[in-house]
Amino acid sequence: MKKSHTSYGDAGFSQFLRMAFQRHLGHDEADFEKPIIGICNTYSEVNRCHSHIKPLVEAIKQGVIAAGGTPLEFPMISLGEMFISPTTMMYRNLAAMDTEEMISAQPIDGVVLIGGCDKMLPAQLMGAASANKPAIAFTGGPMGNGQYKGQTLGACSDCRHFWQEYKAGTVCEEELKNINAQLAPTAGHCMVMGSASTIAACAEAIGMMLPGACAAPATVNERMRLARETGKAIVHLVEKDIRPSNIMSKRAFENGIRTLMAVGGSTNAVIHLIAIARRLGIHLTLEDFERLSRTTPFIANLRPAGQYQMEDLYHAGGIPAVLKELSPLLNLNELTVTGKTLGENLSNVQVDEVYRNIIRPFHEPLHKDGGITILRGNLAPNGAIIKPKAAINKALLKHRGKAVVFTSISDMERRVNDPNLEVDQDSVLVLQNAGPVGAPGMPEAGMIPIPNKLLKQGVRDMVRLSDCRMSGTAFGTVVLHVAPEAAVGGAIGLVKDGDWIELDVENRSLELLVSEEELERRRKEWKPPHFSDHKRGYGWLYRRHVLQADEGCDFDFLVPEPRSIQPDIHSIHELEEEKV
Ligand code: FES
Repeated sequence: MKKSHTSYGDAGFSQFLRMAFQRHLGHDEADFEKPIIGICNTYSEVNRCHSHIKPLVEAIKQGVIAAGGTPLEFPMISLGEMFISPTTMMYRNLAAMDTEEMISAQPIDGVVLIGGCDKMLPAQLMGAASANKPAIAFTGGPMGNGQYKGQTLGACSDCRHFWQEYKAGTVCEEELKNINAQLAPTAGHCMVMGSASTIAACAEAIGMMLPGACAAPATVNERMRLARETGKAIVHLVEKDIRPSNIMSKRAFENGIRTLMAVGGSTNAVIHLIAIARRLGIHLTLEDFERLSRTTPFIANLRPAGQYQMEDLYHAGGIPAVLKELSPLLNLNELTVTGKTLGENLSNVQVDEVYRNIIRPFHEPLHKDGGITILRGNLAPNGAIIKPKAAINKALLKHRGKAVVFTSISDMERRVNDPNLEVDQDSVLVLQNAGPVGAPGMPEAGMIPIPNKLLKQGVRDMVRLSDCRMSGTAFGTVVLHVAPEAAVGGAIGLVKDGDWIELDVENRSLELLVSEEELERRRKEWKPPHFSDHKRGYGWLYRRHVLQADEGCDFDFLVPEPRSIQPDIHSIHELEEEKV
């Protein structure tokens, strides 16, 4: 509290005023001689993934007090998937700004970040990286497994699976209702290796979270114990002055990326890790992901690419057990929030043979390479991404088909189930203008629905591609994050119905089989889309300053060397202004 620089133009008066106001909640002067620990509370009744965190916050406080600190909880923006329009991704940067500014502006020495739902931990790590005060990540934990008629259910892979079956006519309305009641059966975030679990796994591997804190379900005693330990650990980090920049090195991010590949994690993590790293001036590129993916075995048998869920991973030893298996490939000398290196943290970890169906041995992986592949070609000069292990029909990983183009998410919703839509199982479904600027916020619409008429014929997978994202819980032969996006003049916006597209995952290529002359002609005809929404406020700011997917979708003015790399975006608005 003494460190607060709030000033009223009279240093003596400022001090006098602070002393009067710091007595709230029964605190006395001695409390403020101790390390002051902010607890970034993301409790929300709207964000259901954080609606249970109050007791965890109390446990963190107990840990802080036990270690000799003074905890002070404060609120921050809470983003819940499915409840934020148009998409939480649009508000990740706002939450990152909230985190950075509140850590920087408040008189706290260190902070505990309580994440959980998909965008929270990325936003908090971005903000904490920029603020660079001692920080430690924690989450509300994943939900326990759901169950229906003896079958394990997982949110939200099974939300998508059973909805698709309902549309195909193989699941009736009554059954669907019963399944719905079991899909999200406990407190916590989604319990497959979706975006929330993936980013928590990466945070643990990078060293920003205590060992074991990713996988322990929201409802087990172990999560309360970990909350207490997290409270103690942040006090020690403050005492040793260990900051995010001491932990999140390029080599630590490489550990995070290898973990992402080994667990078959969410494609969203690629965007988030690039954004977090760039806050520290670390230039992660898609090539880093490709390089590490090719040399990392896929060892964690987790949905949606595998069989098991977070509760099962927890019993198998959690992320420490995964890291132990991966340790021949990891940078073990990197510092972590325990104050020890990753190697020291793993020294006593053992993987129990009984759980080998969940965590495979390093030399007997599920797949020899990682879960994410980077594609390039004239359709995605700055890259695109695919999760080959999540493809249902693996034959589609090498495929040539005719494009069926949707020019926006609303166009897709309007026409995809039109019985007259000219589409067959070999078509390539293309969704345009759904990227960071276009949608905006690149919503998780990339798993384009398979047209009803094809579902009824038994089709369950098709090649789909877009400039948006998909949920980490989703699946299929789905190409995502095509960059540059259509709305800034990317080649995906030039695709027309009937164009041939070739996907070749083995050769990492994505090509639009149209002559360069014809593409040049289309480029000249191309007009930036007209955005009638977001004439003011945050949406206006977002569209002008968001970077492309391959650059992490941060704002250009928040990376260490602010720059605007999107002249086309300005021209979009100049065009609008000209019209006005
Ligand atoms: Fe919050 Fe899935 S809805 S993690």
